[in-house]
Amino acid sequence: MPQIDYAHLDRTVASLTEGEDDAVALMATLACELHHADDRFDWTGFYRVVAPGLLKIGPYQGGHGCLVIPFDRGVCGACARTGEVQIVADVDAFPGHIACASSTRSEIVLPVRDRSGALIAVLDIDSDRPDAFDTADAEGLARILDATFAR
Ligand code: SME
Repeated sequence: MPQIDYAHLDRTVASLTEGEDDAVALMATLACELHHADDRFDWTGFYRVVAPGLLKIGPYQGGHGCLVIPFDRGVCGACARTGEVQIVADVDAFPGHIACASSTRSEIVLPVRDRSGALIAVLDIDSDRPDAFDTADAEGLARILDATFAR
């Protein structure tokens, strides 16, 4: 499978989720569409903000994911804490990386915000390939998240 076509996925997700505003329904649909759109994506899913400083597993595709991530742990926690996209080329070089699968080599994590700008979740995509993600992924994914959750 070639790498993802974000413009095409934009349109697919928009039509699949038209009129839907339930966050979990949107996350489940997006996790499925993203995961099957690109061979680099070996784990694709959401961690939801469920309490101050606390993420809990949301809809995902791939192997078992850990259930709870405090904001002060892992790549997902760093994203939630800072509100910034995290691109980690080598997870072994990231202090505090949480290894849910030993096969994971690199990952990207993006903040998910609602219309008011509040952080509701993070999107975590893990790859078994080293250095799998770049700024084009960050931009394409951020645009889809914005169009889906902040409309
Ligand atoms: N790698 C993440 C943990 C989540 S799992 O890999 C599914 C992290 O360090 O935040």
